[in-house]
Amino acid sequence: MPSAERSILYGEAIPSSALKTTYINNRRYLGSKYKLLPFITSVVTEHCEGVNSVADIFAGTGAVASAFTDKRLITNDNLYSNYICHLAWFSPLAYSQEKIEQIIALYNKIDITQDNYMSETFADTFFSKTDCRKIGFIRDDIERRLAIGDINERERALLITSLLYAADKIANTCGHYDAFRQGVEFDKHLELSVPIPANGLNAGNVCYNEDANELVKRILADLVYIDPPYNSRQYCDAYHLLENIARWEKPSVSGVARKMDRNELKSDYCTKKASKAFENLINNINSRYILLSYNNMAQKGNNRSNAKISDEDIISVLSDKGEARVFTQDYKPFSAGKSDIDAHEERLFLCICKHKDRPIIQSPLNYTGGKFKLLGQILPNFPKRIDTLVDLFCGGCDVGINARASQVIFNDNNKNLLHIYNAFKNLGNETVLFMINEIIDKYGLSRSNEYGYDFYGCDSSGGLANYNRKPFLMLRKDFNIKNDDYGHYIMLYTLIVYAFNNQIRFNSKGEFNLPVGKRDFNAKMKMKLCNFIDRLKSGNYIFSCVDFRKFDMSPLTDNSLVYCDPPYLITCATYNEKDGWNEQCERDLYSLLDTLNERHIKFALSNVLRSKGNSNEILAEWLRQRDYRTIHLDYSYSNANYQTKNKADTADEVLIMNY
Ligand SMILES: C[S@@+](CC[C@H](N)C(=O)[O-])C[C@H]1O[C@@H](n2cnc3c(N)ncnc32)[C@H](O)[C@@H]1O
Repeated sequence: MPSAERSILYGEAIPSSALKTTYINNRRYLGSKYKLLPFITSVVTEHCEGVNSVADIFAGTGAVASAFTDKRLITNDNLYSNYICHLAWFSPLAYSQEKIEQIIALYNKIDITQDNYMSETFADTFFSKTDCRKIGFIRDDIERRLAIGDINERERALLITSLLYAADKIANTCGHYDAFRQGVEFDKHLELSVPIPANGLNAGNVCYNEDANELVKRILADLVYIDPPYNSRQYCDAYHLLENIARWEKPSVSGVARKMDRNELKSDYCTKKASKAFENLINNINSRYILLSYNNMAQKGNNRSNAKISDEDIISVLSDKGEARVFTQDYKPFSAGKSDIDAHEERLFLCICKHKDRPIIQSPLNYTGGKFKLLGQILPNFPKRIDTLVDLFCGGCDVGINARASQVIFNDNNKNLLHIYNAFKNLGNETVLFMINEIIDKYGLSRSNEYGYDFYGCDSSGGLANYNRKPFLMLRKDFNIKNDDYGHYIMLYTLIVYAFNNQIRFNSKGEFNLPVGKRDFNAKMKMKLCNFIDRLKSGNYIFSCVDFRKFDMSPLTDNSLVYCDPPYLITCATYNEKDGWNEQCERDLYSLLDTLNERHIKFALSNVLRSKGNSNEILAEWLRQRDYRTIHLDYSYSNANYQTKNKADTADEVLIMNY
């Protein structure tokens, strides 16, 4: 084996002083908005208020996201070769710069004499045979290092990004990989540079690799930036070779340009389906602002460069969503030289979204008896105007956090819950995520989101319990040594995330006593947490921790609403075990509601009249004697009833109101 190859395998140190560095915008990319960043940021600064999170959902190089690194970022592209670069530039996962430099220095020094997939498939086409061998060797070596735990997922992304940028720089193309020039001399050779991501990235950043139309159904951001392809040129055709190297599935290729099968990667935005796809996309977006880049090539250039969505369609779809405004700037397009156009106008369409209701968000705690699935039936029954909403038994906060009210007071007698919420509100997203990440690293808990289930020797159905059991028990032990600061409650939240069914349970000594669960702090949990904290920060939310009988109702008026979701007398949810919600509690609550009614303060009460063969006679009797309004909701508990054998015997869930 040649010595350089040997040194790679045995990790011989090579001085890294001569290394070059590279930045996000050191690459060519069709439709890159790098040059438009001043225009884009000025529109956002001047016309969008209070933007704390930005989603760049057709992110390409990630150039636009890179202009908003002071905010929480969501990036997405359906090409894996772009996604892997986004992880490198924006992921909050820590990495060792020194390690990256060492490895890149090794890669730059090495000579590879053996053939591999790259040289066998692409020799002397887009790259020389020598560089193909080197690219193939490096790409294999990156996977090998990940497999033996030498590098983490961020370091893998940084190394692949370095390789993609270096390869693209020397490629024998005129900017894209549809064709290569025949018979050229390969005078430039592969040289990797060290990628330098921005400092101070937000710990809540998340990168996705999927169809933007599907993603928007699940994400929330203050501003969603949309930069879809304009014309029939498919990005998976133009960048097939970079995509091939990034994915490294070593597929067979065909045609002069040696393209792999790209059927799964074709974008609707390059076809006549574009207008319909755009309409669906906009309809499903949950944000306050939408900013769209789309050029004015509809009538210009050759057929292939014509825009697929007409201005009329854009304005009509955006106007349905909110108030649409258009901004223009002259801009020289990236062109392969065929369509002879000097300059065109680049436009930004801003939509200030009107929301009949704010987007519904989910509690970051999977709280037993949580009302998330019933919100669609509960919230429309709330009064239009609520000055103060008291969520008297707030639990997971699903109701109060999604209701429209000038002020929301969350109350619950579970002080642990309230401490967690207080910590969230006072610390803010970034600090909370930072602390959670520190706990995950300190105890060695899994990060399936970054490494996948395989890495932990688990699969999705079996879950991560085997891997996490030991670190989870260590964390539980440390948590149960009493303490009372914010850090303690972030530890509790982390415990809940990794605990059985994400539940909260304490024994009689006040110790958290649930076993480990199947899941971890995955993208969904992180998203729920960030959305929740953002919401807490955006409004007037107050926390209180008293027995419901002691809650001070004296400041409430006839524009207040007291929403009650007490433990249900006749169901067996875990909170009944210790605190023992009993008939006296039930009667006390009804008398409290009667008192509110006498004072003309509105209340809404959730409860069940009948469940699993039992019926709540006290409630039924109280209702018979009063004039309150009862509506029956349609729901079967999916969480608390996991032990119920007869699913057909669903609960008669009701909402009772005095207005
Ligand atoms: C105009 S480019 C974006 C350029 C980017 N703003 C930049 O500055 O680099 C459009 C991007 O959308 C991606 N794309 C196309 N269809 C998509 C889809 N359905 N979902 C997600 N990404 C898609 C392409 O891979 C391409 O990177």
